[in-house]
Amino acid sequence: MRIDEKTVAELRKLGVDVRQGISLADETSLGIGGTTHELLLERYETIPDVMRLLDARKIPHRFLGGGTNVLIADGELPWVVLHLPKAKPGMRVEGNTAYVDASADLGGMVTFCAKHDLGGMEGLIGVPGSVGGALRMNAGAYGTQIGPLVREVELYRASKGEIETLRGADIHFDYRHTSFAPDDVMLRVTLELASKPYREILAGIRVCNEKRRASQPLNQKSAGCIFKNPPGGSAGRMIDELQLKGHRVGDAMVSDRHANFFVNTGHASCSDMMKLIDDVRERVHGAFGVELENEVIFWQN
Ligand code: EPU
Repeated sequence: MRIDEKTVAELRKLGVDVRQGISLADETSLGIGGTTHELLLERYETIPDVMRLLDARKIPHRFLGGGTNVLIADGELPWVVLHLPKAKPGMRVEGNTAYVDASADLGGMVTFCAKHDLGGMEGLIGVPGSVGGALRMNAGAYGTQIGPLVREVELYRASKGEIETLRGADIHFDYRHTSFAPDDVMLRVTLELASKPYREILAGIRVCNEKRRASQPLNQKSAGCIFKNPPGGSAGRMIDELQLKGHRVGDAMVSDRHANFFVNTGHASCSDMMKLIDDVRERVHGAFGVELENEVIFWQN
């Protein structure tokens, strides 16, 4: 797709840095994705204007967070990718409250808060990605989910074209699911955290890191777990029981460490990964009668 010069100039006036012909394979933890243009926003406040401009020019667009839970199509993509402003550190604390930008790194937030003696997020330490992505999916690990800690979320509500603030109590957080609309864009979050001494939090973080290192392929390109766990079951265990570890389509492979992680061992395409996902889903369905639901988000063209 093309963005004409006039639109590029107008975007620049709104403080948007336009980068053309970027490979999203370089921006995702799976190392998979085609090419498009990237728009880097300078300030949160300009988002409604930028979105209005893109809509008026009929330029399809998507916000990319950390790129750690998404499977993006190959080839030239028919939409542009937006990135939220990235302030450093993008977070501050006051008493037991943390104010965090959605673009901040999730692990960075856990350690920043720990240094201010605020805990309860130890389980989230190794979950890769941005705070915004974690919020949208209600990321969780080792008994901790981000949802219950949320006091307020500031978001761009695309359906109204406005920035809004929602109270945590009015947001429904479920297992890897939230009540946000698909086109809501997370901007900032306020979290209410428990006081805990730094050393104690650090000890909890170490335990989670060790568990993760022992069971997950952390040094390979992946998007974490591919499927959600079915109620009362474990996708990883079922795939493992079918002896599918190491099963591959091209360079897309079921991890030999954790069967619900599918890794890119070289130059896997999106279509390789999709075929592998479909194949494993069908085999699990055939053997256990369970239809696995994707945990990874598909961005197809
Ligand atoms: N198991 C196997 N073989 C495998 C993998 C797992 O037998 O190859 C068994 C384990 O032995 C264990 C059970 O399956 O008895 C569950 O495994 P694990 O503890 O690794 O947890 P999981 O349910 O597979 C979930 C989350 C992970 C999160 C871990 C730790 C989902 C889909 N996955 O994995 O989150 O890190 O718990 O809390 O909910 C992610 O969201 O992307 C993700 C990786």
